[in-house]
Amino acid sequence: MTTEPTGSVPPPATGFDVAAIRKDFPILDQLQDGKRLVFLDSAASSQRPQQVIDAMAELYQHSYANVHRGVYRVAERATREFEGARVKVAEFIGAPSSDEVIFTKNATEAINLVAASWGRTNLSSGDAIVLSLLEHHANIVPWQMLAAERGFEIRWIPVTGDGRLDLTDLDRLMDGAKLCSITAMSNVTGALTPMDTVITAARAAGALTLVDACQSVPHMPTDVVDMGADFVAFSGHKMLGPTGIGVLWGREALLDAMPPFLGGGGMILNVTTEGFIPDGLPAKFEAGTPPIAEAVGLGAAIDYLGDIGMDAIRRHEVEVTAYALRKLTTDLGDSITIHGPAEPSARGAVLSIVLDGVHAHDVSQVLDEDAVCIRPGHHCAKPLMRELGVTATARASFYLYNDDDDVDALSDALIKARDFFAI
Ligand code: ALA
Repeated sequence: MTTEPTGSVPPPATGFDVAAIRKDFPILDQLQDGKRLVFLDSAASSQRPQQVIDAMAELYQHSYANVHRGVYRVAERATREFEGARVKVAEFIGAPSSDEVIFTKNATEAINLVAASWGRTNLSSGDAIVLSLLEHHANIVPWQMLAAERGFEIRWIPVTGDGRLDLTDLDRLMDGAKLCSITAMSNVTGALTPMDTVITAARAAGALTLVDACQSVPHMPTDVVDMGADFVAFSGHKMLGPTGIGVLWGREALLDAMPPFLGGGGMILNVTTEGFIPDGLPAKFEAGTPPIAEAVGLGAAIDYLGDIGMDAIRRHEVEVTAYALRKLTTDLGDSITIHGPAEPSARGAVLSIVLDGVHAHDVSQVLDEDAVCIRPGHHCAKPLMRELGVTATARASFYLYNDDDDVDALSDALIKARDFFAI
């Protein structure tokens, strides 16, 4: 069983114009203490282009009402816009039907939905599921909560020293498992999961696969059918869309067979004093007023990403990552450790940095003096941090609006931080 990631790099992007892209992002057009804002925290939450802000404002100004309820024209426009966004999401990820696209609050809620609905129905004592040590807490804690209630076993795919999955024992871990729930890309080390290898092993064992695609969907082409997954979860706010909206995609037959997650208005066919009959997909999983303007904003974000092209975005990020790995190791030498795979094509544009002898929070604060925004901490991945032998890293993450100038600013600021704390 190979342990090599299979991140593919599309052919070079011609005319990838970061300066023009930046102009679409009003927040990036500001000075902090007279310095250009260098935003390197998109793995936590990306920024939004004016087109997304305008799409949401336009809805609120002209076409806002609750959806799937009113029959007046404004309400019908709102419903059309909301459902139009669902179709855009489906096309963006290659889903066979927009009925398979469930809007949630965020990716965390999407994973909790699968745990509470599919998991509570299908997992009990004597069963096993497979997670990995790369996972974000959002793909650990829901399963631990359910395991405490249902008594099933959680098995862990280990990681290598350079922070990628160690798949040498994959077949044994999958044997008899009912589900493998796994990240497509680590939010800490950037390591890409060889999805083919993992999903083939899961299928051979008769296990379903849930993919936490929060860090991959915003940055590279995604086709859920090609991938072969059963469920895929991701967030709007990491892909130029608003907060408050996430997506769960699932195979229709699976979603159809699952009981509702939350109960309330909008998810029923009928309610009597004796009980209720749930609606079909996707309404069954969307109790209450959904994130209407947020869906429209996500649709606009998808339009924006589609216009630039996900292949071009991936290629650009691989180039920036390659430059960053070279530049930082050259400039900072032995004083820096960058966790994750050495090959840029095997990772996303996320660099978890440890500066020798300097706490990640101190690094981050000193960088802020130069208007360089990064995230310090455990990145909601404490089991992985333990494996890497650190309590915190200073994480710089890149997106389509970052370029080599941002890497240079990061490197200069890190040198300052190192020298400032040198004894
Ligand atoms: N999951 C987000 C991160 O990795 C918040 O920073």
